[in-house]
Amino acid sequence: MKMIKNTLFTKTPVLIGPQSGYDNYIMAIESSCDETACAIVKNGRQVISNVVASQIKTHEKYGGVIPEIAAREHLEAINAVIEEAFKQANMNPEQISAFAGTVGPGLVGCLLVGLNAAKTLALVYDKVFIGVNHLNAHLCANYIDTDLKPPYIALLISGGHTQIIDVKSYSEQTIIGETIDDAVGEAYDKVARLIGLPYPGGPVLDKLANEGNPFAFQLPEAKVDGYNFSFSGLKTAVLRLVKSFDGDTLPVNDICASFQQCVSSTLYKKVKKALEKSGYKQVVIAGGVAANSEIRKKIFSLENNGYKVNAPLMKYCTDNAAMVASCAYFNTNTFDDVNMEVFSRA
Ligand code: KG4
Ligand code: ZN
Repeated sequence: MKMIKNTLFTKTPVLIGPQSGYDNYIMAIESSCDETACAIVKNGRQVISNVVASQIKTHEKYGGVIPEIAAREHLEAINAVIEEAFKQANMNPEQISAFAGTVGPGLVGCLLVGLNAAKTLALVYDKVFIGVNHLNAHLCANYIDTDLKPPYIALLISGGHTQIIDVKSYSEQTIIGETIDDAVGEAYDKVARLIGLPYPGGPVLDKLANEGNPFAFQLPEAKVDGYNFSFSGLKTAVLRLVKSFDGDTLPVNDICASFQQCVSSTLYKKVKKALEKSGYKQVVIAGGVAANSEIRKKIFSLENNGYKVNAPLMKYCTDNAAMVASCAYFNTNTFDDVNMEVFSRA
């Protein structure tokens, strides 16, 4: 917990966090990629309202997110999304303790839309503003509807990141492993494109994998030191496999299942190793790829080894603003400098 002081917006410094002594209602806005989202969360764990406007339909036809189009769509959606979040919560801006917004990493033009909306609300309603790191927010999705407290090991898997994090306390975290090339979500999306699946590939590939044989093809698990990962070799192996069919009908479901088996097995082994080394008894998964059925199943199987496992509900795994509000409350790597600029890379 800390005293938020950005007195450019409000003359009154405010205590935000678990020890603040009053109920905190934080409104957060998320716009780092292709979802325009706004949520109100009470005391970091109880979602009062949660609105997400997805742009998937727009970007589908291009096979990926076009940054300029995404930024324009955020602009078009943002006011309605904020209004809807107030309406669903049956609350007004005066009842909000602080306004939060994602600062980065993400697409700069997109981030600017949400962040400026959050800052404007703070300025107009004389409230504090809290800037949030998108990756920390993904982790904080695990605090929603739970009583989870650090320490724990976290597996953060999204479209842009793959990390194993030692979360010692709400504000103290160390990245102990990460990908040296592609992120898991990126690998899913690229492999999906290789075999002709629509964007975003991850969820579709996951669904087809459940119809296939995970041992149909032996794909290589990269041998990387420590807790680091590499997925580009696996992507190349799938490309070679696809080419070997030389235009014949691809056994799509079996390829999906074999790829998913390989990825989930690598993630499982590294997480287990990190848990054993840390001595912690808890593990969480976070990020868009944490919605993956097989990865969830394998990580949850650690419960058989005596570990407590947590994963956010599917709707809090992919980009949303409830996780941003939770992060602002628990003060995990947040910024209260109103001049804080957006940033694109972690
Ligand atoms: O966290 P997120 O919503 O955005 C980033 O911050 O990157 O993650 C998006 C990624 C995409 O690569 C998408 O394909 C992947 O999450 N994803 C999945 C599944 N659902 C979403 N990947 C595999 N299986 C899924 N069920
Ligand atoms: Zn994300």
